[in-house]
Amino acid sequence: MNIDELTSALTERVAQSDNPAEVLRAPEFRELYAQIPQQEPEERASFGQRVNAMKQAVEAAVEARKAELSSVDVCPLDITAPMDVNASAPKFLSAEQGTIHPLMAEMQTLSEIFGRMGFVTEDSREIDDQYHMFETLNFPKGHPARDDYDTFMTVETDADGDPLIAPAHTSTMQNRILKKYRENLERGEAIAAVVPDRVFRNEDLDARHEHTFYQFEGIYVAKGVHAGMLIATLQKFLEEYYGKKLDVRVNPFYFPFTEPSFEFSLSCPFCEGTDKDCKVCGGEGWIELLGCGMIHPNVLKAADIDPNIYTGFAWGGGIDRLVMMKYGIEDVRHFQSAKLDFLEQF
Ligand code: DAH
Repeated sequence: MNIDELTSALTERVAQSDNPAEVLRAPEFRELYAQIPQQEPEERASFGQRVNAMKQAVEAAVEARKAELSSVDVCPLDITAPMDVNASAPKFLSAEQGTIHPLMAEMQTLSEIFGRMGFVTEDSREIDDQYHMFETLNFPKGHPARDDYDTFMTVETDADGDPLIAPAHTSTMQNRILKKYRENLERGEAIAAVVPDRVFRNEDLDARHEHTFYQFEGIYVAKGVHAGMLIATLQKFLEEYYGKKLDVRVNPFYFPFTEPSFEFSLSCPFCEGTDKDCKVCGGEGWIELLGCGMIHPNVLKAADIDPNIYTGFAWGGGIDRLVMMKYGIEDVRHFQSAKLDFLEQF
């Protein structure tokens, strides 16, 4: 199909769509972009310009369609004004006009993929104690790695007199999950769970750091589990999530709760290592995505699981980052911004 035909096909699709921004993510765009470097050098610039013109035409159609879809008449509302019982009721946007927040939708996708791989989904907590945040994860009191998890604390204290905390990672759930599903092991089944949920850190905010963000923890325990299974599980998940084959690699790292511990990277799903100026991987071709490793024997013992019989792996990584890479979102702060022009694209 030539570019002109494609432009009219896509603008037509936009005109029919209830979610027109979706068309901007059509695979046809990606295919055309991939064709740019394959053009003869003298034709490359003009081909690129035509692709760009097409993108602009589709974007304009999307804006027009969005305006058409949202042309409801809503009067401005001063919610601080006293209610006048004689006034007619104000108009509100109908509930059907809202959309699911992109992070929530992606967490659902993530749970579905892991569900197909046999993992149950568990929630985390928004306030937790230091026992689950550190102690059960093999960070005894005074352990220097506790400082890596600077988060918010409440004035209330737990039974040990330590402040309660807004958890800085989803790993706080490991001990609870191990205990909850310990009986699986006695039945000869594995413990397999994912925890996609909200975490908090005392961060300096920028395009890559938020104080409130999302992680997904994974935990798998059975007999004879080894690191190859960890790598294969994460690779399979990422390939399903991004819908393409990806390379992965692990480098040695340190976490108190895994031994050995790894930093897990994947080949850039955005540019696939082909773009020196890629805004997602910075031209590296690799993205450090998460921490993982084989669960430390002390973590299993803290849940009364015998590390001489059972072994397991665990991982924890950022969901925001995963979603940013999927859609080319350049600033993590958009997610919490409540800006409708950002949110309405999903
Ligand atoms: N909780 C770690 C963090 O946020 C990430 C992590 C590393 C989780 C290794 C794990 C793991 O479960 O095994 O920095």
